[in-house]
Amino acid sequence: MSQVNSEVSSPVITVDGPSGSGKGTICKLLAAKLGWNLLDSGALYRLTALAAKHHGVAVDDEDALQVLAAHLDVQFVINEVEEELQVILEGELVTQELRLEETGELASIVATKPGVRTALLNRQREFAQLPGLIADGRDMGTVVFPQADLKVYLDASVEERANRRYKQLINKGLDASLEVILAELIKRDERDMQRAVAPLKPAEHALVLDSTSLTIDQVLELVLEAARHKGLR
Ligand code: DC
Repeated sequence: MSQVNSEVSSPVITVDGPSGSGKGTICKLLAAKLGWNLLDSGALYRLTALAAKHHGVAVDDEDALQVLAAHLDVQFVINEVEEELQVILEGELVTQELRLEETGELASIVATKPGVRTALLNRQREFAQLPGLIADGRDMGTVVFPQADLKVYLDASVEERANRRYKQLINKGLDASLEVILAELIKRDERDMQRAVAPLKPAEHALVLDSTSLTIDQVLELVLEAARHKGLR
């Protein structure tokens, strides 16, 4: 790997894309398949948003948000019984709250603040450890790991992404409205793509995949094929 950025000490595959494009699922599978580390960068923005909520910090108070982001007191613990990753923020279990739609929405607002993004930059880069890193986010290939070995941009039509989210919620026995989900996704896409700093867009030379009519296995195989091509397996 050509390493211009001395902080990047291991091979990196970045996967960026909009909400609901399936990148979370693909990144977990890739990390398991390759035996590499996984960075869920969205979780760091979600944790910053939750810390702000818990401390009563307004989402437009950039200075206070930056301090929170720089000092996130978070632990990731495997629950031995359910074999699930538990997230503890300032001593409080937030695993469920972290994944709520409203937390994603707050995270998307907090993520527009340049100070927050700067505060989280090194914490994200520290995940680049041997044998390798799969980095999931919006600006992994463009800003956080510009020297990554392979950059993937995973997309899908907004209707398909809304459908997938709708089915997930219904399968969990939860109430859901396709119309509301679609409207929220459109709003989130716009905020993530239009912000001034590190907007969501494909990195230069990224492998752009549209998963609208592909299965998870097909997407995984295409990424693994590209990784093989780069000598990453
Ligand atoms: O991937 P996610 O839904 O957990 O991300 C939540 C929000 O965090 C997303 O809408 C925008 C922000 N985010 C970001 O700005 N940059 C990243 N690398 C990851 C997430």
